[in-house]
Amino acid sequence: MMLLVWKDEYCTGMERIDHRHRMLVDQLNSLYARLGHDTAQERVTDLLARFCRYVDVHFATEEHLAREGGFPRRELEVHLAEHRAYRMRVEGYRVALHNGDALASVQLMAFIHYWWVTHILGANRALGHFLCHGEHV
Ligand SMILES: [Fe+2]
Repeated sequence: MMLLVWKDEYCTGMERIDHRHRMLVDQLNSLYARLGHDTAQERVTDLLARFCRYVDVHFATEEHLAREGGFPRRELEVHLAEHRAYRMRVEGYRVALHNGDALASVQLMAFIHYWWVTHILGANRALGHFLCHGEHV
């Protein structure tokens, strides 16, 4: 059972980022499979925590590459605001899951799926293009 299937259009042009994105998609799919079958709350919370740690490292790498590559500061702020908003939403769902909200896992998966596709195709591809070509799409 897969939530997200990798597509070539998700490539940002930056090997390091693309590699992480692919791993992220893999982790997301295992999380999704777990949420479907494993009702043990602790196990699900563990997996989510692991996924969040991976995402944090990924966000930090992106930020580092953007700063090193001279990505315009104002746009970087907008990009980082997207990361922050993502973290807040996921944290909200994590708390809801913890409190036993039965719909939270479905909502969480729908949000994560939507957010990653949108963010990769939007902000991350724009960043990748800038870092590879020194200009905007
Ligand atoms: Fe990003």
